[in-house]
Amino acid sequence: MANKPPFIAGNWKMHLTIAEAKNLAAAIVKACVDLPEAEIVLAPPFTALHGVKKVLEDSSVQLAAQNLFWEEKGAFTGEISAPMLKDAGCQYMIIGHSERRQYFGETDDGVNRKIKAALRSGVFPIVCIGETLAERERGETMDVISQQIRGGLEGIGAGDFKSIVVAYEPVWAIGTGKTATPGQAEEVHSHIREKLAQKYGIGPAECAIILYGGSVKPANSFALLSEKNIDGFLVGGASLEAESFIQITREAIRASKEKK
Ligand code: PGA
Repeated sequence: MANKPPFIAGNWKMHLTIAEAKNLAAAIVKACVDLPEAEIVLAPPFTALHGVKKVLEDSSVQLAAQNLFWEEKGAFTGEISAPMLKDAGCQYMIIGHSERRQYFGETDDGVNRKIKAALRSGVFPIVCIGETLAERERGETMDVISQQIRGGLEGIGAGDFKSIVVAYEPVWAIGTGKTATPGQAEEVHSHIREKLAQKYGIGPAECAIILYGGSVKPANSFALLSEKNIDGFLVGGASLEAESFIQITREAIRASKEKK
């Protein structure tokens, strides 16, 4: 597999005022000048997207939204569409995060509609999948992952798939401080790549970017990214401080360079 630049996305969730978000983005932009080997994406809350976009201008750091609604416009109070987010400067959209599935009832069908809406607007989806602790303990991890891939990517052809980033985030590892071991993560990542190869062929599956997320920290990022099928990270808590986010990025670059 050709070495891809590590892809590191920061998911700021429901944190930070506009001023705080701009400051954090500015600190990351400053440090990223020395890190051209990584693709960096920041996902601030909706309120800070426009402000952060201004900070990212003239840098290689890209902007993501944390969610969207699949309709383009209309009477959907409280929702925001893909074209609106594109207008605000987003190149990426996180879709199907486990917190959305868990607290807001998102299903694979909804995830599928959102992916299609993002693609129609020319924005790259970052599609999250992952099992709960109960599912893992029942031995259902691979079935859950296969179903999420099948349902989420239903009707999406190989041409469109090229624009999609997949993020494996075991629900039990998110915000808990419990990271999947590199071996546990790699086992699922290789299963994901195999499923993608069955659906789209070996070439597109090998080119696909598959991120790991769930308590990624500077201390575990080198070992995780050293695994063959881990191409980057979706970072929550540790992305809220420039220093830890940058350190994760540095470790990922180091691991990627040492990967065969
Ligand atoms: P965490 O979150 O790094 O805080 O575990 C990851 C995520 O939810 O994307």
